[in-house]
Amino acid sequence: MNELIIHPVGALRGSVPVSGSKNAALPILIATLLCDGPSVIGNLPGIRDVTLTLRILARLGCTVEQMDDTTYRIDPTHASAPISAEPLTERLRASAYFLGAFLGRFGRGRIGRIGGCDFGGRPIDQHIKVLSALGATVLVTEDGVEVCSEELKGTSVSFDTVSVGATVNGILSAVRASGETVLYGAAAEPHIDDLIGYLNRCGANIRRAGQNEIRIRGVRRMRGCSYSVIPDMIEAGTYLIAGAATQGAVRVRGVNPAHIAPLTRKLKEMGADVDEEEQAVSVFAPGRLYGTRIETQPYPGFPTDLQPQMTALLCTCIGTGTVRENIWRHRFRYTEELRRMGANISVREDTATVVGGVLTGAEMTVPDLRAGAALLIAACAARGDSHLYDVGWIERGYEDFVGKMGMLGASVTPI
Ligand code: UD1
Repeated sequence: MNELIIHPVGALRGSVPVSGSKNAALPILIATLLCDGPSVIGNLPGIRDVTLTLRILARLGCTVEQMDDTTYRIDPTHASAPISAEPLTERLRASAYFLGAFLGRFGRGRIGRIGGCDFGGRPIDQHIKVLSALGATVLVTEDGVEVCSEELKGTSVSFDTVSVGATVNGILSAVRASGETVLYGAAAEPHIDDLIGYLNRCGANIRRAGQNEIRIRGVRRMRGCSYSVIPDMIEAGTYLIAGAATQGAVRVRGVNPAHIAPLTRKLKEMGADVDEEEQAVSVFAPGRLYGTRIETQPYPGFPTDLQPQMTALLCTCIGTGTVRENIWRHRFRYTEELRRMGANISVREDTATVVGGVLTGAEMTVPDLRAGAALLIAACAARGDSHLYDVGWIERGYEDFVGKMGMLGASVTPI
């Protein structure tokens, strides 16, 4: 799928099921390599990044079997270290996690250049810091990254900035190292806890000692296990924002309300009614919402992955809103596309100022995954049809988004 036509139908109303979390699924799938036996991973989202990760695992020699729509069995018994850089890794940001897994399993490995959304530079110095601290040699070349180690030894590492990716690599490389590793300044995202949950069920010994401290006592062996991935808080948040932007009423089912509390608090502040059940959240927007101030932060702050969608919502609000991006300062490229719809947005350094108004349909090109979701939301809230190009980005992270938008009454037609 490359192109979409969006015909606005007014308020989006209805209920959508939330798929498994992309950001939990990818590290867990990669972590299956560290076990001595097969794992059965359930609630995997049907998205391109998951398919790619499974293909990479198969090319490494894992036996990958589909059990049902969302469940795969991965047996890493016959996996071996890659001889050359795996080219598929270049299409995936999460491929950096293979570094920690290769070290933990084979003591060496290499990946191609790390892919993913382009938000300006995406440094890996904190990944290198933690892998080196455990005793690995890390070589970064033009073509990718190579790691090797004689023996991984537990140690203490203080991250200089909170990084989800570096925390994952720290956990994956330390889980079978000798002795204890303590990660200070580690990420607190629910998907990190899900990875810890999976590894502990396989026999690892990992615990959170504080919000940003993780203690890992290395174990010699890990068996596989059956595990179900947590629901995707970003997907859930995206559909709730779509409901709010179109002055509709949307319920997302199968989500942990605590995970999206930073979003629902904001939506309430902006004038929406929010109803939380044990595993569902509903948002009802009685009219246009009011502009507000958003600032992205590591969890439990407002997630950077909902920043573009919130900017789209602010374009439809009464009054002015501001969005400050603290994680990826250059994550505002999509605002140029929103301006094609008549959005009044100015970006200065890390902050976008949005004056709410009326959007009109336009032709737009998707620059990255979450920006794609934002443009889709804006197009549903606009007057007149929109054409969206390069929508393959959206498929990287949203399972059946055309079908799910349809469940809410949207008219989204793939070309
Ligand atoms: C980040 C988000 C994650 C989101 C993903 C994709 C945070 C903390 N993480 O995860 O929720 O799903 O983007 O949008 O919100 N950094 C370094 N050196 C490193 C690694 C990172 O300086 O070695 C910096 C980055 O430039 C960035 C910040 O740390 O400013 C967070 O990066 P990190 O959490 O690693 O990125 P992702 O794992 O991609």
